[in-house]
Amino acid sequence: MKPTSLLILALAALAAIPAASAQPSLRTHSPMSENWRFHLGETPSPDATISPTYDDTGAGWATVKLPHDYGLDLPYDHKNAPRGRGFLPPEIGWYRKHFTVPKSDEGKTLQLEFGGIYRNSKIWLNGQYLGTQPGGYVTFFLDITKAANYGADNTLVVRVEPLDREGWWYEGCGIYRQVYYNATSPVHVANHGTYITSTVPDGNKGSAVQAEITIQTTLQNDTPAPATCEVLSEILAPDGTLVATLKDTITLPPAPTARQRPIENRESKIENSTTLTQKTTISSPQLWTIATLGTPNLYHLRTTLTQNARPIDTTNTTFGIRTIHFDPDRGFFLNGKRVQIQGAACHNDMPAVGIAMPDSLQPWRVRKLQEMGCNAWRMSHNPPSESLLDACDRLGMLVMAENRHFGNIYPANADPDTTDTDFPDLGAMLLRDRNHPSIIMWSMCNEVKKYQATPEGERLFKSMRDYVRRYDTTRPVTGAMNGGWMAEHSFANVEDLIGVNYAPGRYDDIRKAHPNTPIFASETAHTKITRGVYADDRKNGWSSSYNILNPKETGAGGVPIATIGWPLIAARPWMAGSFTWVGFDYKGEPTPFGWPQVGNNTGFMDNSGFPKDKYYYQKAWWTTAPMVHLMPMTWNWPGKENQPIRVVAFSNAQEVELLLNAQSLGKKPMPKNGWVEWQVPYHPGTLTARAYTDNKLVATDTQETTGKPAALKLTPDRQTLRADNQDTIVIPVSIHDTEGRLVPDATNRVTFHLKGGGRILGTGNGDPSDHDPDRSDNRKTFHAYAIVLIQASKTPATLELTATSPGLKPAQVTLQTK
Ligand code: GAL
Repeated sequence: MKPTSLLILALAALAAIPAASAQPSLRTHSPMSENWRFHLGETPSPDATISPTYDDTGAGWATVKLPHDYGLDLPYDHKNAPRGRGFLPPEIGWYRKHFTVPKSDEGKTLQLEFGGIYRNSKIWLNGQYLGTQPGGYVTFFLDITKAANYGADNTLVVRVEPLDREGWWYEGCGIYRQVYYNATSPVHVANHGTYITSTVPDGNKGSAVQAEITIQTTLQNDTPAPATCEVLSEILAPDGTLVATLKDTITLPPAPTARQRPIENRESKIENSTTLTQKTTISSPQLWTIATLGTPNLYHLRTTLTQNARPIDTTNTTFGIRTIHFDPDRGFFLNGKRVQIQGAACHNDMPAVGIAMPDSLQPWRVRKLQEMGCNAWRMSHNPPSESLLDACDRLGMLVMAENRHFGNIYPANADPDTTDTDFPDLGAMLLRDRNHPSIIMWSMCNEVKKYQATPEGERLFKSMRDYVRRYDTTRPVTGAMNGGWMAEHSFANVEDLIGVNYAPGRYDDIRKAHPNTPIFASETAHTKITRGVYADDRKNGWSSSYNILNPKETGAGGVPIATIGWPLIAARPWMAGSFTWVGFDYKGEPTPFGWPQVGNNTGFMDNSGFPKDKYYYQKAWWTTAPMVHLMPMTWNWPGKENQPIRVVAFSNAQEVELLLNAQSLGKKPMPKNGWVEWQVPYHPGTLTARAYTDNKLVATDTQETTGKPAALKLTPDRQTLRADNQDTIVIPVSIHDTEGRLVPDATNRVTFHLKGGGRILGTGNGDPSDHDPDRSDNRKTFHAYAIVLIQASKTPATLELTATSPGLKPAQVTLQTK
C-alpha cells in the first residue's frame, strides 16, 4: 500500500472517531471525550447494562463529556460521607459510549487508552469483558483488536466503584482523565515505547560541548510471523531543525499464539516486544532548565517504522537534555549549578471541575506557583495527568514524581499474584513519565508508618528501588518518610536520596546518621490558614493567618512556615531544599476543624488560586524583584478603634517603614527569611508599607479602610480561547467600593451569565467551609473574591460574560474562541 492510501485510511479513521487529533499520521490517537452516557449509582440491572442493546436513553442517564468527576454532584453529607473526602459521598457510576470503528482499521492493532479512572473500574466492549483496573491513578491500555466490530457500532461500558479510597483527601469519582482510541499497524512502537537518555560529559561543570544520546525503542509485533522493519530515529532541535538521524534494521519475533493482554500496564506479562538501542551525539546542546535560569529547551524524537520500504508507524516523543546531581554536602545541582529546591506539594483538584482538570488549567496552576518563586512541584501523592508533566516541561518547573502505593497494595484489592519484584503501577508511571526532563526524582511512597522502619519495609523498598533501575537509572529513588530515618532497618538505608516529612528538629541527626546520602525536606510547613481570616474560628471552620508566624504548633496547628518551615531549610545549604505542604488548598482533609470545614487550607493559595499571606512570606524569600506585603490584608476593623492590631510586613528589601495616615510608625530592618511587625492602634484610613534597599524606596503596599461594596470587576488573564470544546479559563471576580478599592470583607452573591456559546463549568471562592455546589452559575464571594470557570465550545464565537449581584454595578468581559 502506498503512503498516500495510508493517509486516506488514516483520514477516514479520523472522520469516524469523534474529535480527531491534530495531524493525520500512520497511527490514530483520537480523544473520545464527547457523548458519554452516565448513570450515577448502581443501575437496576448491572448485567443488562453491559449489553450493547441496553437502552441508556431512559431516566437516570445523562450525557456527559470527559474529563468527568461526578464526585462533585452529590451534596456534602456530614453524617454519612467520609471526612477525608471532604464529606462528599463516593458513589458507584456507570458510563456507556457508542463509537464506530472504521472498516479500514481491520488488520490493525486497536487499543483503548485510559488516562485515569477513579477507581476500581471494570470495562466491557460489545458485551465482552476486557479487564479491571483497581488503581485510580494509573494510565492503562486495553487491547480491543478482537472485541471490536469493524465498520459498525461498538458499545463501550465502564463501571466505576470508588467506594474504598486510596488516599485521605478528596479523590473524586469517574473517568477523570482523557480516553483515546488508538489504532496502529500490528507491527508498531509499543505503548510508551521510546526512552531517550542523555549525558553531558562536562554538564556538571556547567558547560555543554556535547550531549551523548541513547534512544531505546521498544517495538511490538502482533502478527504470527517474524517481522523485519527499519527504525528511523530523527532528533529535532527546539527550533525544529533536524540534528540527528539514525537508521537500523531489526527482526521481531512473532507474537505468542495465545496472546493475552488484559491490563497492559502489567508490562511484565507482555512477551512480544523487542528493544532497539541507538546512540548518537549532539554538539552544543540547548539545555533544558528551570524558568528562572533560562529557557526550558525541548527536543523531539520522531520515530518512523518502515516495512518493505513502506512507512507503517510513527511516534513523536518530547525530551530535554540536562544534568541533575544531588550532593550530600551541597544539595541539588541542575546543569552544574546549585539550585535550591523551592517546592510545593499539590493535589490535583479545583473548584468546578474536581479532579477532572481540563488540560488547559495545568499551565495556569504551574504559572501561579512560579509567580511566587516556586521552582518545583511534588506530585503528591500519585502520578498526575500527563498534561501536568507536559506543562512542567514546557514552563521549566522541577518535578518530584510520586508513586501512589508502597509495594503494590490496594486496600481490599491487593492483586493476589503480586510479589515484591512486581510493581505494575510503579512500572506504568516509569514507562509513561521517564522522558520528562522536569522529573528529577522518583518517590516510592508517602509516610508509610507501617513499613518505613522495619526489616520487611527496607527489603521491599530496596526491591522497588531496583525495579525503578530496570526502567531508569538517571534519577535518584526516594520516599517521603515521617519517621524511622535512624532505625536499624529503614528505607533511609537503601534510598538514593532521603526525604524528610516535617520533623525539622531532626534534620541534623538524620544527616549525621546518613552522611553519604543527600537529604531534602519532602514535606514541611503545613500551617493551616484561611485567606483573609485573622483569628481561629472553629464555628466557621476557618484558621487564623497569623498561624504562619507561631513558633509552636497551635490548636489550628502545623509547622509554621515563617519560623520552623523555610528558615530551617535556608540555614542548611547541604539540604537540597523543600516542598511546602501545599501549593493550593484542596478538597477534603478538612483539618484542623472538620465540619463545617470541607476543604484543606494549608495552601500558599486558596483552592481558587488567590494568594494567602503564606504566599507572600514565601515570595519574599523565593524571588528577587523587590516586593513588600502587608498582613492583615484588610484595614477595615469597625468597632476596634484604638485597639492594637498586629501588622506584619513580608519583604525582600533591607528595611520596611510603616505609615498610618501618612504618619511614620518607624522603619525596621528586615531579618533574612523573617518578617517585621508592629502593634498599631486602629484608626480608619490608609496603612502603607514602604520597602527600602540601599536607602532607596523599592516597593510599597497599602491597605485602606474602604466603603461598602458597590461594583464588580472581572479580570480574565487572556481574551482568547481555543475553540476545541476543552479549553478552560479561570476568571476572577472581585468586589469594589465606589472608589474602586477592593472591599476585603465582601461576601456578595454573584451570578454569572454567558452568551454566545461555551459553558459555565462552575464556580469557587477559596472558602474551605463553603457548601454551595461547585457546578453552579453563582457563588458568594469570600473575602472579596470568587472565580468562574468558562469552557470554550467547538465553534469559534464571541462570548460575553456578565457578573451581577443585587445592588452592585455589574461587570462584563468579552472573550473570543478561535
Ligand atoms: C502530611 C501528609 C499529607 C497531608 C498533610 C496534612 O503528613 O503527608 O498528605 O495529610 O500531612 O496537613
